Amino acid sequence: MPVRSPVLNVMAHAALKAARGLLRDFGEVEQLQVSVKGPGEFVSTADLKAERTLRSELTRARPGYGLLFEEGGVEEGTDKHHRWIVDPLDGTTNFLHGIPHFAISIALERDGEIVAGVIYEPTRDEMFSAEKGIGAYLNDRRLRVSARRQLGEAVIGTGLPFRDKGDHAAYTATLASIMAATSGVRRMGAAALDLAYVAAGRFDGFWEFGLCPWDIAAGLLLVREAGGFVSDLSGGQDMMRCGDVLAANDKLHLPLAALIKEALRAAPPAA
Ligand code: IPD
Ligand code: CA
Ligand code: CA
Repeated sequence: MPVRSPVLNVMAHAALKAARGLLRDFGEVEQLQVSVKGPGEFVSTADLKAERTLRSELTRARPGYGLLFEEGGVEEGTDKHHRWIVDPLDGTTNFLHGIPHFAISIALERDGEIVAGVIYEPTRDEMFSAEKGIGAYLNDRRLRVSARRQLGEAVIGTGLPFRDKGDHAAYTATLASIMAATSGVRRMGAAALDLAYVAAGRFDGFWEFGLCPWDIAAGLLLVREAGGFVSDLSGGQDMMRCGDVLAANDKLHLPLAALIKEALRAAPPAA
């Protein structure tokens, strides 16, 4: 069993503390007060409470680190080398609909590079964690990406745009092409967990466009530390800026990238 480093302990402890509140609120999800944040996007009070807990735990343990929180935005720290990147509740729509598939995602960035990540799924008590150069774990078990080599046997996760978000035509084209080539596509509703599932070998791959840094920061490290490949859709490493992500094992990453590229080339132009 691995001994977690002090910083991973801080992250895991913060996640467990915030998760207690999330679980309480999940139990009362129907009574939850919900306010509209913007078109198609809801923020529950649970979201904000979890963020407050995470913020106070993380800043108490590491005062001076910068912050990039989904709700609170950017806060400069006195320590210019370190920054927490946090999604207090990934899978908000699931949460609000009583679907038990959501997570807290915490990443630590050092000099622009993600060096530690924790994704905690409270309803199954699954703590995914990774540290650069040390490996990825689910609770105490070391993770490896799947070993499948055939696209035809692969299960691929994704996220679908909704309402006026994203380029639906381009997305539909990639979905059609990946549906036809694989054993199935899953849309679970929490991008951080989708990446954790690739790291755990549950998904053989994952793609989505237009994600935010807090959705993916911890998950990208998990996949890499589990021996997988992550890229943006042109094969580069610009995921944190452009928000487009393709993650898979080393055998499936290239063929999936080729399918997506071809589908996007042939897709009708955005309206
Ligand atoms: C969302 C989830 C979802 C993804 C969306 C994200 P949120 O995050 O990760 O799976 O498809 O793009 O915005 O809003 O639940 O934190
Ligand atoms: Ca999110
Ligand atoms: Ca969120």
